[in-house]
Amino acid sequence: MDHDPKLPPYSTGDPTSFAYSTSRERWPIIITQAIDDVYRTVGSLPDNSDEDKQKQAEGKKILGELAKLKYELQHNRALTPLRDDGFDDVKVYNDELARRGNLTWLDGPWLFIECYLFRRMSTYFTTSQHWKTYDVFARQKIKSFRSSRAAVLELAARYRELITQLQQSKTHDAEAERLLFAEMCDVCLWGNASDLSLLLVLTYDTISQIQGSEARRAAEKNILVNDLPQVYEHLKSLKDQKIAERRVDIVLDNAGFELFVDLVLAGYLLASGLATHVVLHPKSIPWFVSDVLSTDFAALLNALASPRAFFETPSDEDQLRGVTPAPLEEDHVAQLDFLFADWSRQHAEGRLVLRPNRAWTGPGSFWRLPAEQPELVEDLKQGVLTIFKGDLNYRKLVGDVAWDPTTPFSEALGPLGPGSGLNILTLRTCKADVVVGLKPGEDEELRKTEGGGGDTGARKWAWNGKWAVVSFSRGT
Ligand code: F6P
Ligand code: MG
Repeated sequence: MDHDPKLPPYSTGDPTSFAYSTSRERWPIIITQAIDDVYRTVGSLPDNSDEDKQKQAEGKKILGELAKLKYELQHNRALTPLRDDGFDDVKVYNDELARRGNLTWLDGPWLFIECYLFRRMSTYFTTSQHWKTYDVFARQKIKSFRSSRAAVLELAARYRELITQLQQSKTHDAEAERLLFAEMCDVCLWGNASDLSLLLVLTYDTISQIQGSEARRAAEKNILVNDLPQVYEHLKSLKDQKIAERRVDIVLDNAGFELFVDLVLAGYLLASGLATHVVLHPKSIPWFVSDVLSTDFAALLNALASPRAFFETPSDEDQLRGVTPAPLEEDHVAQLDFLFADWSRQHAEGRLVLRPNRAWTGPGSFWRLPAEQPELVEDLKQGVLTIFKGDLNYRKLVGDVAWDPTTPFSEALGPLGPGSGLNILTLRTCKADVVVGLKPGEDEELRKTEGGGGDTGARKWAWNGKWAVVSFSRGT
């Protein structure tokens, strides 16, 4: 807490904050969906051996714990210390909880309580014998990726065409390269708009609209801050200086289609020579419903390795509706094969690396990283750019506090700003109150738009994923 920005944090007790409805409406739904998932798994377990019976019994115990959690949350009970599951961060969470005194679910700092919620849910599984590595959100993540089939195929076609061109033509047209860089980052940015936690609001066909390329062009005007030209120049100048190792880090957000587009961006950075290595940072525990675990990366590569099996097998919903997915066309399979081969080769040759770190699922802002995770910061400083994907990472970067929205992004980064040794790019669709780097009067204008919040004091325009900020801070 000592290293956090000294401004009031957004609170679940403030009716004008998205924290208020998120904690009262969406968190109970997320816990209910977890209960449904565990219930479904328990129901599908064999009942033969003693081990089966133990796993079933543990599953029923977890159901009880999730139900109790939901009850405590909905009745605004005090947060209780996490059970020790052997990981160091339990003490970090519990020490902060003790320092914050008697904290209740519906009247406290949004960022801490929401991170605590997911870390507490994970302890139900990590303290068990048979559910230790169970991902209660895995079904939703795979289902979402399967439902992104149209956008996946559209991008796969584009990717093969692009990478083949880049591999064949030795000299690249700089203007084309700059446009492509912007397009790839756009795809990466809006891919995020389909994160599952918004699925409670968005329907699948809205998702396919978001993910279709014509929709992206329309969304261009919804990017309030767009520093991509500076980022491209930064990478291009390092490439032109023939610096041997130019590593780009991507602190990931959501699995499924968003991870797919992150890999498309990584593959493009490598093929264009704008980077020589890409390090992907997934989460170490199931997190904010759709965030990427290392297992989600493996699952995506497996899906691409057998695209017919993955995209042509009817899902449970398909079976209920008596629907059989259309078979993939031959050239679709060829395009997905190309992707799989390209990414597997980059991964095998060590240019595309996965590096999980429990620091990404800690209880507070990233302002704490230099003091609390110096080795992680030193590692990131080996790179030339660190890209943070998504809304939660943004909230952690700027501390999820009530900044004046015209505060410069580099100032709101605190110890990760100028002089930190880190060059930071955020690709963020806005799904929470906090925002910085806007022009004077811009927030007021947006509040006046339909559903923007008006003079209620609520910055509603920043809650629904329709607007985005792409901000860059030079730290080297
Ligand atoms: O908007 C509600 C919310 O749960 C935020 O608390 C959180 O920042 C966001 O959804 C998660 O979105 P993303 O996956 O883009 O980080
Ligand atoms: Mg997420």
